[in-house]
Amino acid sequence: MTAIDLASEPMLVGAKPPPAKARMMLSGQDPETPFPGIPVQAYEQPVYVQRSILGTWVFVSDPEGVKRVLLDNVANYPKTLMERRFFQAAFGDGLLSSEGETWRAHRRTMAPAFAPPSVAAYGPVMAAAAQTFTDHWAGLPAGTEVDVAREMSDLTLEIIGLTMFSAGGAVSARGVETALTRVMATLTFNPLFLVPGLSGLMFKTLSRKVRAIFAELDAAIAAMIAEREALGDAAPKDLLARLIAARDSETGAKMTAAEVRDEVVTIFLAGHETTAAAMAWVWYVLSQHPAVEARLHEELDRVLGGRTPTVADLPNLTYARMVLDETMRLYPPAPGTSSRLAVEADEICGVKIPKGANVAVVPWIIHRHRDLWDRPERFDPERFAPGTERPRFAYVPFSGGPRVCIGAQFAVAEALLILATVAQRFHLELKPGHRVAIHHRVTMRPAGGLPMILRPRQATAS
Ligand code: HEM
Repeated sequence: MTAIDLASEPMLVGAKPPPAKARMMLSGQDPETPFPGIPVQAYEQPVYVQRSILGTWVFVSDPEGVKRVLLDNVANYPKTLMERRFFQAAFGDGLLSSEGETWRAHRRTMAPAFAPPSVAAYGPVMAAAAQTFTDHWAGLPAGTEVDVAREMSDLTLEIIGLTMFSAGGAVSARGVETALTRVMATLTFNPLFLVPGLSGLMFKTLSRKVRAIFAELDAAIAAMIAEREALGDAAPKDLLARLIAARDSETGAKMTAAEVRDEVVTIFLAGHETTAAAMAWVWYVLSQHPAVEARLHEELDRVLGGRTPTVADLPNLTYARMVLDETMRLYPPAPGTSSRLAVEADEICGVKIPKGANVAVVPWIIHRHRDLWDRPERFDPERFAPGTERPRFAYVPFSGGPRVCIGAQFAVAEALLILATVAQRFHLELKPGHRVAIHHRVTMRPAGGLPMILRPRQATAS
């Protein structure tokens, strides 16, 4: 295979070098970076320390250092109390917010529902949803403009809904999303959260508001869980059924209905906007790199010849995987995870970490670090060609260590099935004159959506 000539590559959003000096954005967002407050030194040094009135922040980018925080010395770096309280107020004791034995037991119990055989079982649902979605696009006149970011959110919402609950039932994916959107709007940061003594009260009030928003949905989820338990083996084999039936491999314990509910809501939150963001960026970079898109089309036509992809096809879609991996390097859907707190003093790459410091592993910075990537702002899928190697902790879109994203395989299968299905039938062109900008709020998406023009294409049999 020939390498793609990237000499005449266009300037992508976020391709400008990092800011020379930290900038405070008092309002609004920087269209070029999710982190205007972090200067170029963080992208050059293995460990970068920033001190401010809000405390000491340590940005760790060296792969061995990242490994120390996320894996080797993970017990010293729990999630920060603030982050956990926020998530707890919203989602109870789901995987994102719990720590210690509760987290460990739930992670063990849930692991099989996200293991490759389960993901393979969800594959047909994912592929069928992607196919129905492109059928809908095919019904629109050629040249129709769509907001691809919005469309990808709708599709991934449909997929998580079908995978979680099968079709029908009292709980709709849209109902969960509506409640989640209202909850996320309630969860805005208030400086009073930082005031000791006041913060406990503030979080209690927040939890009360969240419970009121979720009340109706919670009743529907509880009814659905009870219904599934009554059906026993006759219940559909979806993600909900797997969570209800799952047993801790060490203790044999099942999760309670309340625990299953917390995990359902957490999975909806963690598992749909992230994949939608990844896909929006994929369509954007493809629209700017015709040679990459042509090579992708060649692979899809050769491997699939126009048929609906299955999970069994995924190992043969190597170029599609390279495109996805490189897109998530440049545009990690969760660009700022993970904030951790140093419980005890430590040393990382020769830098002393004081007890109580905030330690940040930031995929956006690691993926654009000068020591780890050649010309990091350039989009080049060849970096991920089979046989290329890099330290495991130089590439962390899904984080790493014991708290690595539990849905990583789910997300990759889903993204590749969507990519293969849509790219077989459509070429997406960025609306002429539209300037893509970055919007960051936990996930990173194109600001104000991604207007693109639908151009149908025919798979060519090889
Ligand atoms: C491209 C898509 C995705 C990306 C980039 C992504 C990224 C991440 C990252 C970085 C974390 C670690 C967060 C932290 O340490 O603070 C995480 C955790 C998590 N993700 Fe994903 N995720 C994706 C898709 C999914 C999907 C599809 C699901 C479920 C269906 C999911 C469920 C979760 C859960 C439950 C956690 C918490 C795990 C734990 O703490 O044990 N994610 N994800």
